[in-house]
Amino acid sequence: MNYDNLLKAISDPNQTLYIKADGTLGAAGDQNLMGIIPKFPLSGFGCPDFLKDYGVRYAYVGGAMVGGISSKAMVKALAEGGALGVYGASGMQPPRIEDEIVAIKKELGGKTFGSCLINTPHDPSWEEKVVEIYLMHGVNLIEASAFMQISLPLVRYRLSGARRLPDGTISVPNRIMAKVSRVELARRFFSPAPDKLVKECLKRGWLTQDEADLAPFIPMAGDLTAEADSGGHTDFRPALALWPAMAAAAREATEKFGYAQPLRVGAAGGIGTPWAMVAARAAGASYFVTGSINQGCVEAGLALAGRELLAKAGQADVTPGPAADMFELGAKVQVLKFGTLYAMRAQKLADAYRQYGSMDEIPAADRETLETQIFKQTLADTWEQTKSFFVERDPGQVAKAEADPKYKMALVFRWYLGQASRWAIGGVEERRTDWQIFCGPAQGAFNEWAKGTIYEQPENRKVVDLAMNLMYGAAVLLRRDLAVSIGALPYGAAAPLKPQPLADIAGYL
Ligand SMILES: Cc1cc2nc3c(=O)[nH]c(=O)nc-3n(C[C@H](O)[C@H](O)[C@H](O)COP(=O)(O)O)c2cc1C
Repeated sequence: MNYDNLLKAISDPNQTLYIKADGTLGAAGDQNLMGIIPKFPLSGFGCPDFLKDYGVRYAYVGGAMVGGISSKAMVKALAEGGALGVYGASGMQPPRIEDEIVAIKKELGGKTFGSCLINTPHDPSWEEKVVEIYLMHGVNLIEASAFMQISLPLVRYRLSGARRLPDGTISVPNRIMAKVSRVELARRFFSPAPDKLVKECLKRGWLTQDEADLAPFIPMAGDLTAEADSGGHTDFRPALALWPAMAAAAREATEKFGYAQPLRVGAAGGIGTPWAMVAARAAGASYFVTGSINQGCVEAGLALAGRELLAKAGQADVTPGPAADMFELGAKVQVLKFGTLYAMRAQKLADAYRQYGSMDEIPAADRETLETQIFKQTLADTWEQTKSFFVERDPGQVAKAEADPKYKMALVFRWYLGQASRWAIGGVEERRTDWQIFCGPAQGAFNEWAKGTIYEQPENRKVVDLAMNLMYGAAVLLRRDLAVSIGALPYGAAAPLKPQPLADIAGYL
């Protein structure tokens, strides 16, 4: 049997299909219908309340990417395309964040966007300063990531401006989209702010008594992204196990605390194809977050040479590497291993840090290897550069390092980890083998899907094109699956579908 007509009709998600017993297309009211395939508009993909609350057309989020990789241009493109972009403020100095936020607000003219607030254990003042900037400029959505517990600035941000309306409901202007990979951490964000922290905010004059009094009725995060195996900071959790568990935890917490609005869970980690979108939806996701695939797009703040590497990467071309911001704790990030030696070199530093009490204890031959192969300068010179950076920014770090040789070694080694990202972002050729590029398996999955299409070339990858293709592809897959369930298509007849130029699917969006 030829299924071309049926497959073509299924490909228009805005059409309801009436399938006759002989497998051909009929109309509403026909006798002997085999089944109906309802329309599936892309705007209906996520939770309708999510669309309403954020004023977006699609429940699709381009997650934050450090150092402005998720750039102003990316946030703008996503907003104009009807999705939600998060600015990659992590790893940036507060004055620059302020400039960028002000510019984004102006350009978006009222459209929603978010900005990142990342846990910075080595510099807690960063979090405080950035929250102040967000509050001052009315940034009313933050993506909070890498937090192991609720912090004071998070509580300040969440409860500032909360008030009870005349109809008895509570208005909470500042929204936190928390990103976690473990259910026990999710429970902290699903709970109201810890009483101790609310009291401390009151003491510091960060909250009014009225705002503090509302704390027990407000979850720290109304939206929580369950992040499975992803690019960057990751716990390498398997998506299909993590997502449904988080959705269940959200339902439990909504009931336990009696919140007026159900808590929502979004899915992140591994989303690079329509098949992943369908799986996330089936697992109970209210919204969908991508990262790795967006870094390969023209709007990303990553040099073309880096995006060219990403466009060639396979699913297995990623590996754990030491994390710069939590180096001493031994934390890992997932990075690209194709075309760069960063992970291997950074691991050598992590091993030396674990083994020795100071740089002076490193045997001469090993020290020379580090200096010639990794730093390309002496450790002493690297310390001088590190010192002059901190003398201006945070002199306490210099004093601490002078008193503690192990800490001094950590700062010197972190110099390499930090520079490795900057070399990649800037496309510094002579440091190509040191490029640190966060990346998860979703990038390779997308590349396989895009093979043979215009999206093989990095210059054709645009965030909105990819977003629409993921949602469109997923809607078609869901409809094909329904056709299989009612017996209109044989199992497996749904031929794989390829991403298409945006103009070719524009009529379905
Ligand atoms: C290059 C890169 C940088 C990232 N930086 C951040 C960040 O600064 N803050 C954050 O919350 N998440 C960050 N992430 C995670 C993404 O926002 C997103 O949650 C994740 O990439 C989704 O999984 P995926 O990589 O499988 O698409 C980063 C991811 C990548 C690929």
